[in-house]
Order: sequence, then C-alpha cells, then structure tokens
Amino acid sequence: MLNTSYTKHFLRLNASPGRGSLAHVSVWLLAIMLTWVPTARAQDSTIRSIQNIFDPLSAPAETIYQTSLLVLAVCAGIFLIVAGLLTYAIIRYRRRGPEDDHEEPPQVYGSAAIELAWTVPPILIVVMLVLVTARTIGEIQHPKLPESAENIRVIGHRFWWELRYPKHGVVTANEIHVPLSDRKKRIPTQMVLESADVIHGFWVPQLNGKTMLVPNYRNTMWIEPYATGIYLGNCTVLCGEQHANMLIRVIVDPPAVYKKWLESQRQPPPPPSDPQAVEGQKQFIANACGTCHTIQNTAANGVFGPDLTHFSSRATLGSGMAPNDDKNLRSWLQDPQVLKPGCRMPDMHLTKDQIDVVLAYLRTLK
Ligand code: CUA
Repeated sequence: MLNTSYTKHFLRLNASPGRGSLAHVSVWLLAIMLTWVPTARAQDSTIRSIQNIFDPLSAPAETIYQTSLLVLAVCAGIFLIVAGLLTYAIIRYRRRGPEDDHEEPPQVYGSAAIELAWTVPPILIVVMLVLVTARTIGEIQHPKLPESAENIRVIGHRFWWELRYPKHGVVTANEIHVPLSDRKKRIPTQMVLESADVIHGFWVPQLNGKTMLVPNYRNTMWIEPYATGIYLGNCTVLCGEQHANMLIRVIVDPPAVYKKWLESQRQPPPPPSDPQAVEGQKQFIANACGTCHTIQNTAANGVFGPDLTHFSSRATLGSGMAPNDDKNLRSWLQDPQVLKPGCRMPDMHLTKDQIDVVLAYLRTLK
C-alpha cells in the first residue's frame, strides 16, 4: 500500500528506537533529564505513523470509526446469513445419484411470506444505515465548536503546505502545530482548506477523513486530537511529480506548549550577528531567494515558496521529505532537484562559499 518514497520517509523519520533496546532506554533517560532543564521543550515526539482509520485519536475520526464498525457489523451479519444458507443448500441438496436428475425442487412462486422476508428486512437495514450515516455526516460537517476552537488556514501548493494562524498572526509551512484537546475542556482546531494551484487532498487518517483542497473554493474540516505526538498524513489527490512527497505532519502539543510555540513563531528571529550569517543574509537577498520566500523583518517577501522566518525550528525539509539537518540542507541549497525532483524550486547555481554562508544564515532562523 505504501509507495517506496513514503516507506523511506517512514524509515528516516520514524526511527523511534525499538522497545527494550539500549537506544530506547537511553532516549528515555535523556528525555527525563531534559524535562528538568527549564528551557527544554515538552513536545511529545512520538510518531503516530499508523495510516489506519481503525485507530482514531481525534473526534471526527472516532465518529467515522464508530459508524464504519456498525456498517461492517451489519454487512458481516448479512454475509454470514447468506453464505451460511448457501453452504447449507449446496451440501443438503447436492446431487446424490442419477435418480436426482429427474426430480425438481418444490416450486414456491407467489409465496407472500418469503417475498416479505427478503424485501422488508433489507429495506429496514438500508434505512437504518442511511439514518446513522446522515447523523454522522451532520456531526462532522456542521459541528458545534466551542469559542476556544483554534483556526488554521491550510493552503495546498505544489508540493508543500502553507499554514496561516489568523488569530495569532503566524505564518509557517508543512508542520502543523495544533493544541491537544480534552473531552471536558475542548480545544478543537478548525481548518479552512484552500489551494494555490491544483486540487490537493488532506488526509491524516487518525485525525479525520479526507478533505479536498480545491482552487477558488474553501472547504472546511476540523480535528480534535486526544493524544499528543506527531501525526503523519499525505496528499491524497494526484497533483504532479512530487504528489507522493507532499507529506503532512500534524504536531499535537499540550495547550501550554502550543501557546509557547505560537509566541516563538510570532517573534521575528533577531538579525544575524555572526559574520558568516550576516554574509549569508546578504547572499540570500542578492540571489533573489526573497522573491519566492518570506523572512520577516528582511527584504525577502515572496509567497511562492514556504515562509522561512522560523525555518530552523522545523524538523523536516521539503514538506516532510528529509530531516532538516545540515547535510540535507546543503544538498537542497546546491540543487533542490536532487532531494525532491520536480519540486518548484530551481537549482540556483550557488557556489560552495555561498552555500556555506546561506546555510549559516538559515540556521539562525529559529
Ligand atoms: Cu498535492 Cu497530491
């Protein structure tokens, strides 16, 4: 079911150490130590990579799951009855010898009892399923969301996700931070889905069903996650060369951590002080990177590519394609077409020195 690049993405990004391994224990020890350092971020880095609608961890996905269980149970019941009667008839009334060739079973045309038996129950079952499904669709499409609900605008681009938090004046890309909800103190997140070019699809199976992002149209959906962690999803509509690598990461943070994240995203990063980074900023502007990318408080104000104001606070590059480490970033700056062939960023033909300083500058954008 998974294509190779997606599997690679799993292997690279979901390298959570196996249970019981030494690495696992040391990661936990490290995590415990870090919680004592006051500056440590309490983000839960559990990767929730299960692309499975039968393991919901959010309100709409849970409702869909319950409805699908009911439908599956009804269908399984019908299957067992039909297959059981069929098997019984095949065995009980099988041909036992040549004398059976001249015998016909009793003919029952016009039996009101039998006709009613195979029309009325199916109609009742279908009506019941229609009513239950209609209620589920109503609950999902017209939810009563509390005042505390968050709002995010998700704009699909070939091949990345633009994210805007209108209440907070935050713009970012590809890694969607949302607050953890509580069944008693709800904080759902409503998403307005739009597209900047072609039709894309937004699907994080453990959070909600699929919703399309259609040009010149606004779709809405909402999620209400009950567990922290990093949820993986994918674009579900073929949108071009890198459709399979338009990966979605939804990072569910406890409300306090989420608030801290919003605050840090709202502040533009301080101007670079290190001479290499200062030179990098100059090169970034001189090489026209700013015609496609925005970095707040600089001349860079492009909107064609992802906002890079807090680029180095993101864990991945190229919309979840690769970890955001120096090796991958260097490769990306040298020629983005190597890591993500077909992506809209061209090879800018930067020299090795230019790459060094631009990399140093991008690393200051936390
Ligand atoms: Cu975007 Cu497929």
